[in-house]
Amino acid sequence: MRDLYILTMKIRVLGSAAGGGFPQWNCNCKNCSGLRNQTIQAKARTQSSIAVTSTDSCNWVLVNASPDILTQLKQFPEAQPARAIRDTGIRSIVLIDSQIDHTTGLLMLRESKEKLRIYCTDAVYEDLTTVNPILNVLSHYCGVDWQPIRFDSSGKSEFVVPGFENLRFTAYPLKSKAPPYSRRRANPSGGETIGVMIEDAGASKRAFYAPGLGEIENHVKPLLGSADLVMVDGTFFTENEMESQNIAPKAARSLGHLPQSGVGGMLEVLKPLHARKILIHINNTNPILDEQSPERAEVLRRGVEIAEDGMEIFL
Ligand code: MLT
Ligand code: MN
Ligand code: ZN
Repeated sequence: MRDLYILTMKIRVLGSAAGGGFPQWNCNCKNCSGLRNQTIQAKARTQSSIAVTSTDSCNWVLVNASPDILTQLKQFPEAQPARAIRDTGIRSIVLIDSQIDHTTGLLMLRESKEKLRIYCTDAVYEDLTTVNPILNVLSHYCGVDWQPIRFDSSGKSEFVVPGFENLRFTAYPLKSKAPPYSRRRANPSGGETIGVMIEDAGASKRAFYAPGLGEIENHVKPLLGSADLVMVDGTFFTENEMESQNIAPKAARSLGHLPQSGVGGMLEVLKPLHARKILIHINNTNPILDEQSPERAEVLRRGVEIAEDGMEIFL
């Protein structure tokens, strides 16, 4: 029974919004203008990223590098242990896709004393070394130590990050969407998006992180079912949220994001799970950002939490 009280990992939400953040610089939707004009009750959010550590470490693994990373790190003194004149607690970075909101923060880390150790699939590496050559650019600064994420015959990729021997990471391919700039957007061949299960070495706690999740394939169900924490795609509440607000005729699923509402939506998917459930990567158009909205009330009534910047989760 004692094991129940041992904390094994800590997750810090650095950013909880989808691409564009909240409020988005050029957006005058109900939420963005409401937050700007203080006519709604809501919290500003930066673009999604989390930091993970095992409780015996003062270092962190970043999952995704948002363009807001410098702001996020300023608000996160624990990532700066100050052991040397130039130092950081960020030891490695796992990329779940090659989207702008998850990768362009890498450029802001170019002063790193060491090569940036980056875990990503071949698909993501290809995007970041060809059509969006961020990693090539970084080779003229700190350099990159690429750790390929390659799926085994059972469809997963397990790895241990040096310095975090008490944690195990397992990546799984997910159906979402490669970025608009990618050749893979129209022709996916696998590995464009992953979800990551993070567990302690004793496998007593499991956290599943998937900010881009467009479809619940069969292999995803047992992952959600076996996790103690699921942090999943919270981009849109409805399938036609952007169209109904006259923003863009783009449906949620066509962008690789399963909406929360409706048949087969994320709320239905999450309903049977015993895990702690948190929505992250929330688009600025999503009514759940408005703290007085009926949509937010419904999500909370169903036992689902809505991520905020600075949120900390202990498992
Ligand atoms: C997405 O996940 O679809 C992105 O947030 C889009 C973007 O970064 O522009
Ligand atoms: Mn995104
Ligand atoms: Zn907006």
